[in-house]
Amino acid sequence: MKKLLFIIAIGAGLLITACTKEGPIGPQGPAGTNGTNGTNGTNGNDGVDANATCTQCHAKDVVELVATQYELSKHSYGEAAFEEAGNTTCAPCHESEAYKYVSANNTPTTFTLNTTTNKYVNDYTVPADKAYGEITCSTCHSSLHTTYTIADLKPFTNTAAVAMTMWGGAKTINLTQKEGESHLCIKCHQPRPLTASAGNGNVLDYNGIASNPTGIFYDPTSTTNLLKPGYRTHVHYGSVGAIYAGMGGVEFSGSVAYTSSTHSTSASCQDCHMSPMTGKAGGHSFTAKGNFNGCNADGCHTGMAGSSSGWTNTRAEIKGLLETLAGKLNVGGIDIMNRNPDAEANLWASLTANKYDGYLNIYDPINNPNGTANNPTGIFQNPSPSSSWSADQKAFNLTLPKISLTNAQMGGIINFQMCLREYSLGIHNYNYSKALLQNSIEKL
Ligand code: HEC
Ligand code: HEC
Ligand code: HEC
Ligand code: HEC
Ligand code: HEC
Repeated sequence: MKKLLFIIAIGAGLLITACTKEGPIGPQGPAGTNGTNGTNGTNGNDGVDANATCTQCHAKDVVELVATQYELSKHSYGEAAFEEAGNTTCAPCHESEAYKYVSANNTPTTFTLNTTTNKYVNDYTVPADKAYGEITCSTCHSSLHTTYTIADLKPFTNTAAVAMTMWGGAKTINLTQKEGESHLCIKCHQPRPLTASAGNGNVLDYNGIASNPTGIFYDPTSTTNLLKPGYRTHVHYGSVGAIYAGMGGVEFSGSVAYTSSTHSTSASCQDCHMSPMTGKAGGHSFTAKGNFNGCNADGCHTGMAGSSSGWTNTRAEIKGLLETLAGKLNVGGIDIMNRNPDAEANLWASLTANKYDGYLNIYDPINNPNGTANNPTGIFQNPSPSSSWSADQKAFNLTLPKISLTNAQMGGIINFQMCLREYSLGIHNYNYSKALLQNSIEKL
């Protein structure tokens, strides 16, 4: 424990340091009150027994146990933090230091017009010297090793309401139940903005799309399109937070009203994702797959299991709606939504019979650094061929059929992505998923 005691002594400021600047050394000041090392002192200036406070956490059944669970978490074994390190736009959700930075500084999610380029710029970024760090204990428990007591597990890094990046901060997710603890997760698990990348760069106006379903969103012969669709025209991976809060879709009018299920106002992400472990799910694995302990706690459900009709019926209905919507999303009979049977690359492969991944069925032969190609089997012509393609690839692209999109189709694509990529087939927020999917189908 000697080393630990030394750390404490520094932390408590009990060491008197000699002046190292040039010139005569001044008279020694009055000595401070020394704490008692090794046992707890009796007043605020006294030292604390390292054994007593460190071991509140550094024990087999606390940090060691949690760290073991954490190895089962994709936060730990996933590779995104390593791959996106250094990217100041991706970092707020992928890098530990960046997440702590945007949380501590309340970095705005606004878009600002750059008057030189006349393009909007996304303000939700971090300085380059903060764009690193694997997701680890201190990402969420940012006060660790502050007082060196168990109280450092809280507060969490963020429990403040989340001004959504997808809308340039115009809408905020505010789930106040359980002291806002869902906001810890939602600040990362939220969609990314779809922007007018071929226009002024601002976030897309979902209300405009929803209120004019027959309007043209993308016309391959026009020069004033807001964006040119590509294989990766998508809302990113974190649609859960938005769906859960009952926000984030293109809300077409239709036969189903936009409401939210009880989950979004009564439960928190932690209730279902960090309940006592079953197999490799629960606790600090953060996954809900196959763990019903959270469902059956706190008097919420009794006997909920994978065979319960509440579970199977909900999921079957949302799966059916996803499949119907994908079937309606076509141009000249060709599917707009991409299929990818590779369950390693496609995180949602098991959710629909056609194994949609939420990307678009557009040709894209660019080689990724890891040796895979983006979408060499895409059927639609890519409106933005890259200069890095070979002459053959460019020529082949021109032989492919062109895609065009109405607002109803664009909104349907967004809603399909949102409802596929929330993973749970309606468990997160059945009412909201059903309204988005059913009303989109009615507009097509
Ligand atoms: C609030 C709980 C908590 C308390 C109290 C606590 N620690 Fe830790 N400590 C942690 C966590 C969590 C980690 C990271 C463990 C991991 O990554 O597996 C850690 C890691 C460490 C490490 C490894 C290096 C590092 O920083 O990651 C050392 C050394 C350490 N703690 C020393 C101490 C000492 C000494 C005390 C008491 C003076 C103490 N800790 C009190 C939670 C705590
Ligand atoms: C700092 C941002 C951040 C926070 C905070 C965060 N997550 Fe994540 N989460 C991620 C990222 C990024 C991934 C994917 C990591 C990868 O693939 O390398 C992920 C992955 C996951 C996965 C695995 C998904 C899969 O593909 O199988 C689950 C489940 C999850 N998070 C749940 C949660 C829950 C619950 C919370 C809150 C208690 C939370 N996360 C907090 C960023 C975050
Ligand atoms: C608003 C937060 C946010 C931002 C910004 C963000 N991501 Fe993500 N990203 C996530 C979350 C959350 C996940 C994991 C979601 C899940 O699996 O449920 C994820 C997943 C991923 C994955 C898939 C990892 C896997 O498990 O297969 C890749 C790749 C990725 N992001 C790349 C990027 C890149 C590149 C950028 C910047 C251009 C970026 N992300 C910006 C939140 C974000
Ligand atoms: C993605 C966010 C996140 C990460 C990463 C994270 N924790 Fe936690 N941790 C939480 C939340 C949220 C709770 C509260 C759980 C609850 O309310 O049930 C918690 C609770 C705890 C507790 C209290 C006891 C328990 O099991 O609930 C300990 C101890 C703990 N964390 C240690 C760690 C350690 C050690 C690591 C790294 C190996 C870690 N945490 C990583 C979010 C996180
Ligand atoms: C009512 C319970 C419940 C709540 C609350 C909940 N989830 Fe889930 N979540 C689930 C279920 C069930 C699945 C699907 C698990 C499966 O595939 O079997 C899931 C799946 C996921 C997944 C991907 C698969 C995995 O590894 O679990 C992520 C990521 C996720 N949820 C994040 C969140 C976030 C973030 C929140 C809070 C905004 C949240 N969830 C709230 C029940 C819940």
